[in-house]
Amino acid sequence: MPVQRGRMFFMNPGPTNIPDRVLRAMHRPALDFAQKEFKAIAEECFVGLKKVFKTEQIMLAYAASGHGAWESAVVNVCSAGDIVLVPETGHFSSSWTQMVEHYGIKVEMVPADWRRGVDPAAVEARLKADVNHEIRAVLQVHNETSTGVAHPVAAIRKAIDAAGHPALYLVDTISSLGSFDFRMDEWGVDVAVGGSQKGLMLPPGMCFTGVSRKALAASQSATLPREYWDWRRMLDGERQARFAGTAPVHLMFGLQESLRMIEEETLDGVFARHARLGAAARACVKAWSAGGGPELFCTNPDLVSDSVTAVQVPDGSDANKLREVCAERFNVSFGGGLSRLNGKVFRIGHMGDLNEPMLMGALTAAEMGLDLAGIPHGKGGVEAAMASLKAA
Ligand SMILES: Cc1ncc(COP(=O)(O)O)c(C=O)c1O
Repeated sequence: MPVQRGRMFFMNPGPTNIPDRVLRAMHRPALDFAQKEFKAIAEECFVGLKKVFKTEQIMLAYAASGHGAWESAVVNVCSAGDIVLVPETGHFSSSWTQMVEHYGIKVEMVPADWRRGVDPAAVEARLKADVNHEIRAVLQVHNETSTGVAHPVAAIRKAIDAAGHPALYLVDTISSLGSFDFRMDEWGVDVAVGGSQKGLMLPPGMCFTGVSRKALAASQSATLPREYWDWRRMLDGERQARFAGTAPVHLMFGLQESLRMIEEETLDGVFARHARLGAAARACVKAWSAGGGPELFCTNPDLVSDSVTAVQVPDGSDANKLREVCAERFNVSFGGGLSRLNGKVFRIGHMGDLNEPMLMGALTAAEMGLDLAGIPHGKGGVEAAMASLKAA
């Protein structure tokens, strides 16, 4: 193993860079989670989380990965035999679907082109056809991390309303939360699912669930078995009063700090920074795409993601070779293509604790990596990214 100096440029779309401030906040002795001091920290965290989710309803936290929040969302509002509608987005809509099917829930996909994003009109049409209101919920991934497509959550809410359908609206905001706009209450989201390890700049290991009053009411009559995930066990009124087991105290120390950092920068400031970085990454890839080089996987300019850019390499090229070269030669880590995109796509994560020079360093490494991996590409990607940042 060669000696590496300097920092690894960690450009994966989750987990993401953990700021030194957050690491330092976690570097402290444990605390009794039944003690007043911890309760005050938890209280501050829940208030801060609600601001990030843009909700005044219920906020819950678990010691678990994002998969846990997926499971919590479904087992609390569904019963065996229910039908859920899943607009197809990519790897993560498929994985959520698989989980749901294990519970005896019937899944109906609304097919969509992974590169263009979901069509709210198709969702509306399917809901209108469900005259007996058999569909219990719509499960939507906001930012599909495998494709770099940011799906239109508000437009799908409008589609549900236009169909006059009472389905609950469950949204995965795991790789959009704290990176670009998400509005739980304004967009009529009933269950919003988030994770610690992306825009919130924390280690993996915690997940969050925003619960609307409508979803809480539905959880009273839902009959799927649940214990760890049971909202009713965690709540005292609308407040989370206890964790399922020992509270993840160190993650909460980190969360308190990361929420303070977001408050200092302001959410709008965080979104503007992600928008600048996303635009620069896309400008770079557009220059590479000249003459049939690597191109943006997302072909819908209205739905490009500001937290992750998926890059499709030309036929006959291997995206994993590029990732290997960048990791070995330059100590830069990019995300790989997931499921059917393995080897065809690499992903530039630009979410969380990241600034312009960090992005530029990584894009420079990727451009060198394209040459070294023998992937034909247009020239001037790095220059295009610089121009985009200067103009922002
Ligand atoms: C959009 C999305 N949903 C769900 C997940 C699953 O989260 P976790 O890996 O924390 O279980 C991920 C992980 O990357 C994701 O990007």
